[in-house]
Amino acid sequence: MIIEKRKILCVDDEFSALKILETILQAHGYEVMFADSGKDALELISKQKIDLVLLDVLMPELNGYEVCRRIRSDERFKNVPIIMVTSLTSKEDRIRSIEAWADDFISKPFDRMELLTRIKVLLKQRESRKHLEEERLKSHMLESVSILAGGIAHDFNNLLAAIIGNIGAVKMRMTPEDKGFQSLSNAEQNCKRAGELSRRLINFSTGGDPVKKVMSLPVILVDVISAMLQGSKITPEFSLPDDLYPVSIDARQMAQVPINMAQNAKEAMPEGGAFIVSGSNYHSSDQDATLLPRGKYVMLSFRDTGVGIPPENLVKIFDPYFSTKETYSEKGMGLGLAVCYSIIKRHDGIITVESECGKGTDFHVYLPAACQEQTGSVIEGEQMQIASMSS
Ligand SMILES: Nc1ncnc2c1ncn2[C@@H]1O[C@H](COP(=O)(O)OP(=O)(O)OP(=O)(O)O)[C@@H](O)[C@H]1O
Ligand SMILES: [Mg+2]
Repeated sequence: MIIEKRKILCVDDEFSALKILETILQAHGYEVMFADSGKDALELISKQKIDLVLLDVLMPELNGYEVCRRIRSDERFKNVPIIMVTSLTSKEDRIRSIEAWADDFISKPFDRMELLTRIKVLLKQRESRKHLEEERLKSHMLESVSILAGGIAHDFNNLLAAIIGNIGAVKMRMTPEDKGFQSLSNAEQNCKRAGELSRRLINFSTGGDPVKKVMSLPVILVDVISAMLQGSKITPEFSLPDDLYPVSIDARQMAQVPINMAQNAKEAMPEGGAFIVSGSNYHSSDQDATLLPRGKYVMLSFRDTGVGIPPENLVKIFDPYFSTKETYSEKGMGLGLAVCYSIIKRHDGIITVESECGKGTDFHVYLPAACQEQTGSVIEGEQMQIASMSS
């Protein structure tokens, strides 16, 4: 995957100061843009996607504080981190920069490593905030869609039941040779498909609060996935250690996750391939890239060697109704991953994805360990009734 370089805008009316910043920043992989006045800086930031601004204070016309204030007052750039880089050193200047809503303040001559560290920290903070905001929006969107979908699906189901009942009643008075019998059978078939859609919508929306029990994941995973892939060209491989932490889950809801993972893997590998399911214990720290709260987790990976997902689709795959498959057929409702996402969310976990076109896809699921203090072995006797679990 190509990682885009972070773009830093350096604003200073002194050419030599800009040159120093350019040398330091470019050597550390940043793309650098320049402005030698506040006016130019405001123009540049409105045209280019800038990740961070290094802003001198003492400049003719518009000083750094004013530029900072103007950037902040524009809704589009209010989250761009700004560091004042100035020869001013007094307490009053620091206060003024805080009042102008700058994120940080560094005095010239600055230490190279200190500057780079502050840049790194601010970029990371911004990334985390952005990620949290996206997650919040996604959860909100899923919640709204699921309430709407659930409401419609229930009414829809009742109407369907009446339609199917009436079709059946008319068919009973006919023989298969009668004119219209075939059309009624087709209508009945389509109603059944519509019923499947509404069943999945109800599943998505009214999974409701999970009824949790402490249990071991390997049993569920092996049984569900083996059943799903039976008769297909894919033989699943499992790497699930015995000491995997137990988790507290609603087994019926959680089983939907491996079901949908296996189904998608099957569809991504029509000619067969590998589907590797692995698990490990995971401890997240405060600096964790996953942004999970600190604690113990079970990390599951569902990796296939299928067609992969193009980068432009990666951000959409958990959205309800997003599908690249033939829609309104048996597959392709675009609900499988939305269901997984909401179930995992209800269990305080997260799901992430990595994929490369033509090489395959790897989904990671993190679920909180049942007992954060305990690292003991799996709870015995929690058997799943796999046969009764359908998607
Ligand atoms: N393992 C995978 N490999 C490649 N693409 C995938 C994989 N899993 C999901 N996708 C992509 O994500 C999209 C959304 O997946 P999701 O399971 O939500 O819906 P769907 O499979 O299209 O329909 P449904 O699951 O409702 O039958 C898919 O259409 C596909 O483009
Ligand atoms: Mg699917």
